Formats: sequence, structure tokens, C-alpha cells
Amino acid sequence: MIPPEKEPSLTEEAPTFRRFTGTDGYVASRALQDAVNVALSLERPLLLKGEPGTGKTLLAHHVARGLGMDLIVWNVKSTTKARDGLYVYDTVQRLNDARFGEGDVRDIRRYIRYGPLGRAFASPERVVLLIDEVDKADIEFPNDLLQELDVMSFHVLETDEVVSARHRPMVVVTSNAEKELPDAFLRRCVFHYIDFPDEDQMRAIVDVHFPGLAGKLLDDALQVFYGLRDVPGLRKKPSTSELLDWIRVLLASGARLPEGGPAAPGDVPFLGTLVKMEEDLQTLTARAARPAADVRTAGRRFFR
Ligand SMILES: Nc1ncnc2c1ncn2[C@@H]1O[C@H](COP(=O)(O)OP(=O)(O)OP(=O)(O)O)[C@@H](O)[C@H]1O
Ligand SMILES: [Mg+2]
Repeated sequence: MIPPEKEPSLTEEAPTFRRFTGTDGYVASRALQDAVNVALSLERPLLLKGEPGTGKTLLAHHVARGLGMDLIVWNVKSTTKARDGLYVYDTVQRLNDARFGEGDVRDIRRYIRYGPLGRAFASPERVVLLIDEVDKADIEFPNDLLQELDVMSFHVLETDEVVSARHRPMVVVTSNAEKELPDAFLRRCVFHYIDFPDEDQMRAIVDVHFPGLAGKLLDDALQVFYGLRDVPGLRKKPSTSELLDWIRVLLASGARLPEGGPAAPGDVPFLGTLVKMEEDLQTLTARAARPAADVRTAGRRFFR
């Protein structure tokens, strides 16, 4: 009789698989740790999506730190082209040097500047390459990028040199979902959506930044923070980084939150650290003016 196929069990994972387990400066859920380890083991880019401030960019820094690898950052802009990531030929510098008689302008190699992808390929060690905010570029960018990542080598036309990667970089791609990414790109990536931290996770994140901070100030601050996030109709909900800034000013100023919670926007000290749109302030002011019974029906109590 053929024995039934054994179910894979998480407790029996090969120890080499769990290479990334977070760092003391970054709170990574088990699912996020798994996504990083899957990407490492499949040697595929890790695509991270999630609300602003959920730690997408910071994760790449901590993957590099946790694995003892160098980090190369590529901040994508609306005009970024995949080829610029490989190298650019600095003709302006060469022209200047020719005009002012600086250096040997015949040596074209001096004017080849590797981009982040080029540096990641040329590196003698495996590196973490962060491609931050991939959705800012045009729709061709992700596909062109994949092509370059697949080939893992490039030809510098001007010098007729070929740069071949010795190691496939650990690629972390972040996106704020401003645009949908092409299917072909999604197919080749390991995808993870970073959920907005629940209160327990947020306490752990706060603890990373303000070790030992607990007690009433933190309880009250979290209540106001999550209360604000629950207010319907806010255009820009406060994010983790805003909460951390707010806690920092609360601590620095010694300000206290009103007993029983705020009754109006003016009761929240340094509200501008959390709420940054005029329209949202108006929403909050209108909410504070509503009859109490109305407000109490809407989830967490806020501006009772
Ligand atoms: N899991 C976490 N552990 C520790 N700190 C965190 C974590 N998540 C967020 N933070 C804090 O929040 C800040 C914002 O994180 P980060 O810039 O990585 O967010 P993001 O998802 O890249 O946001 P955006 O989409 O706006 O670029 C970090 O600098 C850090 O202080
Ligand atoms: Mg970011």
C-alpha cells in the first residue's frame, strides 16, 4: 500500500528556509517573515503593497540588516526608465572635462555611471535591492525591469563591456497601488500585502521606537489614534509614522490627553501631526457638533 502523502508541517521547515525572522528595529508578522523567506528561497522579487506608513520601505532596510547584506535603494520617479537603473553615460561631464582640459576624456569608462540595478549586479556580494514605489513610473517600467532582472547582465554599449551579475539580488519592490501592475510582473513576484497593524502589533511597533513606553499615555494615544482612523469620510487616515511623531511630541511637550477622551478637535494636542488635510479637520469639526447619540452608533467612540 502506498503511504499517504505527508502534509508539510511548519514545525518541520528546513532551518535554512527561515533566514529572516525580523530585527530588533522592525516588527514583522509571521506572514511577512514567510513572504521574505519565500522570496529569498525562490530568488524572486518580493512585491509589497499596503497603506502608506505600514513599513514597506523600512522592511527592505531591515531585511538587509537582518541578513547582513548591503542595501541599494532605487527611488522610482514618474520619469524613471528601467535602463537608467543599469547605467548612464555622463556626456555632460565628458564635455565639461574636454572643455576645461580635465582628465583623459578618451577613457569613456570614466563616464559610465552605474545605476542601482547596475550596482546590484556588479556587486561582488549578494545585496538587497529596494525598488521603492514602482507604481510611480509608467506602465512599461515593471515589465522592462523584469526583463533586466531575468537577464541578470547588461552590455555597456559605449565601452563594449558586459556586466554579468554574480548573485541574484534580493529584490524588494514597494507599491502604493496608485496603478495596477501588469499581470506578467505580478506572476513573477512573491506578493505580500502588509495589513494595517492592529492595536497589539502597534504597541510592539511603538515599543521599538520608544522602549518601555507603556501605561496611560500610550493607552490614551492609541485610543485617539484608532478612533480617528475609524471616523468615516477621512481623506487621509493617520498612519504609523504619524502616530510615532505624535507620541514623540506628546512626550517632548509633556502634554496630556483630556480625561475621558477628546470632545472636539481642539481637545487633541498637536492634532496637525495626525490630521494633515483641511478637509479632514472640517469633517472632525462637523462630527464634534453632531448630537451625541448619533456619534455613538458609529464604531469606536470619538468626539462623544
Ligand atoms: N513594522 C514596523 N516596525 C517598526 N517600525 C515601523 C513598522 N512599520 C512602520 N514603522 C514606522 O513607520 C515609519 C514609516 O514606515 P515606511 O516609510 O517604511 O512606510 P511605507 O509603507 O514605506 O510608507 P509609504 O507608502 O508612505 O512609503 C517607519 O519609519 C517606522 O518608523
Ligand atoms: Mg515607502
